Amino acid sequence: MSSPYLTLNVVELTQETPDAVTIHFEHPSRQLIASQPGQFLTLILPCGPGGKKERRAYSLSSTPHEAPRLAVTVKRVPGGLVSNHLLDTVRVGQQVEVMAPLGNFTLMPQPGSARSVVLVGAGSGITPLMSMLKATLREEPQSQVLLVYGNRNEDSVIFGRQLQQLEQQYPGRLQVEHVFSQPLRPSAEHKHTGRLNRTTLLRILEQRHRLPAPQAEYFLCGPEGMMVEAQAALELLGVPASRIRRESFVAAAESAETAASQPNGHGDVSAAEDDGKVVARTVTVQYEGSEYQFVVEPSQTILEAALNQDIDLPYSCQAGLCTACRGKCISGKVHLDEREGLSDSEMKQGYVLICVGHPLTNDVVIEVD
Ligand SMILES: Cc1cc2nc3c(=O)[nH]c(=O)nc-3n(C[C@H](O)[C@H](O)[C@H](O)COP(=O)(O)OP(=O)(O)OC[C@H]3O[C@@H](n4cnc5c(N)ncnc54)[C@H](O)[C@@H]3O)c2cc1C
Ligand code: FES
Repeated sequence: MSSPYLTLNVVELTQETPDAVTIHFEHPSRQLIASQPGQFLTLILPCGPGGKKERRAYSLSSTPHEAPRLAVTVKRVPGGLVSNHLLDTVRVGQQVEVMAPLGNFTLMPQPGSARSVVLVGAGSGITPLMSMLKATLREEPQSQVLLVYGNRNEDSVIFGRQLQQLEQQYPGRLQVEHVFSQPLRPSAEHKHTGRLNRTTLLRILEQRHRLPAPQAEYFLCGPEGMMVEAQAALELLGVPASRIRRESFVAAAESAETAASQPNGHGDVSAAEDDGKVVARTVTVQYEGSEYQFVVEPSQTILEAALNQDIDLPYSCQAGLCTACRGKCISGKVHLDEREGLSDSEMKQGYVLICVGHPLTNDVVIEVD
């Protein structure tokens, strides 16, 4: 497989709001870079202390049909290192090191399908949803999209004009419902006042008689509070969990500590071997045809131990959110500090995230995707 690292040129910038910019990239030789709606680019920027390279994930707001261009949209996080660096310094003509698109929070267009896609997002959470929205409208002529989009006020709406144009371009197929917590103007049609919570979402979804809630596919991306509320609303509507996908940009305050193990029992160990303690243990990682064995100290994650040994494994957020470092635990038991990025079904299949994983047994073998 070719290297996942690329150097891209910044070819255009679009100021979306005072605090958000879309950065359009192209490969210097206009090479096509494969991506799926909902995936993210990892930007690698030497803006850390002493020029240390920092990685951050940014969802693609572009769609594959915009190739060879790729775009990400970055919103300023108060006090944040990379978002402020980008908003303050990014220039057309600059070269940026990136890792090719990754991620499993994707919506794959199926040209023959006639489905209802419901996207619920707030703030910068719009970025992967925007890519899914544009791809569905373009590639699935019989599908409908409802976007419920929460923001502080009219001025903080990222892609406001584009969304308006798309509603006109796809009449009856795209509906955008804005929710403003502190609106600047009195609310109008398709604009709601208040927080994007379960009551607001239920009201919007129930108004949509044409949208059969349980059959629709739901994609959620925004702050933790919004996603908890949205999930509660969907549960009340009887939407099965298998129809709901979510992505978080930030780790929840209280991480859901959990343990994953190889699912069919082959990796189980006896109580004497598995004392459940995080102690130094040797781990085997298989990646792109190579096998690496290394010791993971109790204070390290599996990824940190691998990077200390200069083993080049894929990673981005290092917080258990983006799934760039996902692997399948084919033997042994792994403790995860955070499992936000993994669905219940992935957990059952034995998937782990090595950036938040610690070996609990001496026989851990992980196949990295
Ligand atoms: C899969 C994935 C996709 C992402 N896509 C986008 C995107 O499309 N656009 C985008 O702007 N960001 C996106 N992010 C967030 C992005 O990767 C960075 O975390 C964000 O830009 C903050 O980085 P920083 O260096 O400025 O802040 P840091 O210096 O890393 O963090 C400063 C503080 O801000 C908190 N923080 C981080 N992100 C947020 C946030 N979004 N809101 C509130 N607090 C935050 C951190 O927890 C930390 O406490 C995505 C993250 C993930 C995991
Ligand atoms: S690097 Fe993002 S989940 Fe591990």
